[in-house]
Amino acid sequence: NMLQDLAGQHWVITAGPTMEAIDPVRYISNHSSGKMGYALAAAAQARGANVTLISGPVKISVPNDVHIIPVKSADEMLAACETVMTLQADVFIGAAAVADFKMKAACDQKMKKQTNSDELTLTLVKNPDIIATLASKQLARCIIGFAAETQNVMDYAKDKLARKGLDMIIANDVSRTDIGFNSDENQVTVITKDTTWQPEKAAKADLAVSLVDYIGSHYHKTC
Ligand code: PMT
Repeated sequence: NMLQDLAGQHWVITAGPTMEAIDPVRYISNHSSGKMGYALAAAAQARGANVTLISGPVKISVPNDVHIIPVKSADEMLAACETVMTLQADVFIGAAAVADFKMKAACDQKMKKQTNSDELTLTLVKNPDIIATLASKQLARCIIGFAAETQNVMDYAKDKLARKGLDMIIANDVSRTDIGFNSDENQVTVITKDTTWQPEKAAKADLAVSLVDYIGSHYHKTC
């Protein structure tokens, strides 16, 4: 019987890795498990929000009463985001670990091992920046990113907040193995233009409840 104070709001959350095809049987991806984004979706749904979860390939189950859109590549994730936010959403949270690069041209057939060389060069091109695109089009009233960093965490996070045109960024030190990618716990610093807040290290499910609470109460002030 949780407070239903987010009733009537549409929250769109991305989670998991993206998977960029090299050929029909190989891909480029990363270690995101989806746990953080799925926990945020569950926490927002529990407060009454209408939640759309756009997820790369993960092995965890979808929270009850959350609308799931499974995608693979960054291009598909961006297209799904734009489709579900045709009507401006209230809150967007980019918890997905989007691959920064994709193949310039994925191969239609399985690549053959060349016998005449010990090296293989793949040509990659930049993926679209999903959250920066959504922010520039103002597809949600409040646009919140994560910043996964292994060094200079606060500086790099503040830089992403400004450069991507976000309302809030959640800095995540991913050099540690006890938090971040694939672990059950996380510790983050929440940064806006003029505030920072560091909740305690906690299970991702519990941290998500605190983050949703914070975002919900700052929604009208910050965004
Ligand atoms: O999934 P888990 O195992 O639970 O791990 C959680 C997490 C570590 C993946 C998560 O907490 C996290 O930090 N997610 C962001 C990962 C990331 O790729 O961050 P980034 O600093 O590269 O990107 C910054 C922001 O831009 C993110 O909101 C990202 O979703 C977004 N982005 C990045 C690149 C791109 N092409 N498009 C984007 O929208």
